[in-house]
Amino acid sequence: MSHSNKNKDHEQNVNIVPSSQDLRDPLHLLFCGSISSGKTTFLSRLLDDSEAVFTDQNLVARSQIDSHKALRYFETDKRQFIAAEVSTPIQYTEHIVATASMTNAAVIFIDASQGMLNETRHHSYMLSLFGIKQVVLAVSNMESVDYAQNRFDDIVSEFNEFAGQLNFEVLHFVPISLLNGDNFLITQAVTLAKVSSKNNMPWYSGLTLIQQLEKFSTYSSIKNSSFRLLVQSVDRPNPDFFSFRGSIISGSISQGMTVVASLSGRSTQIKKIVGPSGEAPSATSGQIATLFMKDDIDIGPSDIIAHEDSQPDVADQFAAHIIWMNSDVMLPERTYVIRFINTDTTARITDLVHKIDTNTLNKLAAKSLELNEVGYCKLALDKAVTFDVYSDNRQTGAFILIDQYSDVTVGAGMIDFALRRASNIGWHNMQIDKSVRAAVNNQKPCVVWFTGFSGSGKSSIADHLEQKLHEAGKRTYLLDGDNIRFGLNRDLGFTDRDRVENIRRVAEVAKLLVDAGLIVLASFISPFRSERQMARGLFNDDEFVEVFVDTPLAICEQRDPKGLYKKARAGELKNFTGIDSNYEPPMQAEVVLKSGEYDADTLADELVEYLISKGNASITVRH
Ligand code: ADX
Repeated sequence: MSHSNKNKDHEQNVNIVPSSQDLRDPLHLLFCGSISSGKTTFLSRLLDDSEAVFTDQNLVARSQIDSHKALRYFETDKRQFIAAEVSTPIQYTEHIVATASMTNAAVIFIDASQGMLNETRHHSYMLSLFGIKQVVLAVSNMESVDYAQNRFDDIVSEFNEFAGQLNFEVLHFVPISLLNGDNFLITQAVTLAKVSSKNNMPWYSGLTLIQQLEKFSTYSSIKNSSFRLLVQSVDRPNPDFFSFRGSIISGSISQGMTVVASLSGRSTQIKKIVGPSGEAPSATSGQIATLFMKDDIDIGPSDIIAHEDSQPDVADQFAAHIIWMNSDVMLPERTYVIRFINTDTTARITDLVHKIDTNTLNKLAAKSLELNEVGYCKLALDKAVTFDVYSDNRQTGAFILIDQYSDVTVGAGMIDFALRRASNIGWHNMQIDKSVRAAVNNQKPCVVWFTGFSGSGKSSIADHLEQKLHEAGKRTYLLDGDNIRFGLNRDLGFTDRDRVENIRRVAEVAKLLVDAGLIVLASFISPFRSERQMARGLFNDDEFVEVFVDTPLAICEQRDPKGLYKKARAGELKNFTGIDSNYEPPMQAEVVLKSGEYDADTLADELVEYLISKGNASITVRH
């Protein structure tokens, strides 16, 4: 027990004794706490004071993941430590996302004179969310509160009350003074030189901070125990020979066991295992192994192989906690790239169930997430993937979200559970399909997607184009921004979030109409690349024609057909595209029309020519 009896009851202490393996492996620590709470001083005093300090030469490679965080490597006579120190909230999130799966324990510093801060709560919540189970709370700067036991006890109680709602399993408290060296170094022998012989906190009889760290285990109570092998290569030199090679993410495997390729669900028995030092009866977590199989089952690189008795989930929808890491807010229904340990695909956050106030741990209703906010979300992926829930496996249960255009990591997630809807709903293939309907219409269906500022001329050009197609006997339908907002999308406004949803619905409708065999003209500002890309993705390559009506903002504003620019400039209309809402011009539109220079009819002719050249409008005019 690490401090006075009075606080004994507060401590959560699963008795974990480090094994001999633990003592050989370095303990990965995360040091967190607000500025001036003592973490930096602690680490630098340690490097000054301790006899057994390593140089930093081993650290360079490790710090590559995240170049701005400080990594320290130190050791006592009992064990080695690698400590990462993070300061700003952004560094903190990035670091924890990158290293959660190998962090064994955390030290949270609290300045005794300041007590618990919102930052302390945020850090603690994040540690718990990312499955870090062993924590020591270092109440530092005790000299600034006259080494008062009651101050320490108050902080302990307050922290315990908060941490009671978190998932820590081992929680210790140590009062320290970095000024005088109380309760933080390894052994008296090492500290003697610096420490005054006076014991400033006789009421504390527990371990020093470093002694406490020595006792931590490299264990992780996240089970990580089921066998998971990430396939890197497959070898089939002849029909009788089949093997695959990969890294064992967790668990172990022995000869004779039956394993399953998660995606195909097919299983086979292991004949032979070749590990790092040649043939072996088994192989275990952390090793790269080649497994020789009895039968050739369909396995590809990035498949996950599991034991037949404990298979991962395979689904295209799940619920997860997401920490948002970008200053652009998270937009539900936007398509992001989602990256797992083994594969990438695209995903939409279909539902933000609630966000979590990390200060009170209350669940709040929310429409989007801002930088460093945590939300509980449902996601829909574009294909089924293999995963575990995070509480079972920190590697196969985690993912990051990446912006499709900037390639920036915008969020990180931990899977809570798989949603089964995917397997309960199947696409019905009907006898009368798109090609049959298209043949009756005697045309090649497609969508002509107009994008551009309000007043750029999209709807006028689309109107002219539709008339021309109509005269040529084509069956068409025009979806127009203003009109759709009277009905289907009357619940949507003009926030970024609503525009994302507007375009998602319209794109789905356009898809149905193309499936009905029509030539669809869609005229929407559609200001974001991401959503136009999403719309494009719903169609075959030759079915989507993006038309950028490239009219300079100044001309649109001058035209101002509905008087909206005037209102927007006067501050009477918020979120107006081009004024206080963003427009991202297309990079690779099939057609760019300069509507500032030509009239709508001429531009519509240009489009007819384009459609003829693509075979969409090549049927002769009906009489
Ligand atoms: S989009 O951005 O979601 O694609 P959409 O094309 O449906 O917009 O609707 C744009 C039309 O709504 C404009 O042509 C304009 O008439 C009207 N409108 C009203 N408020 C706004 C606004 N804040 N920003 C842009 N257009 C607006």
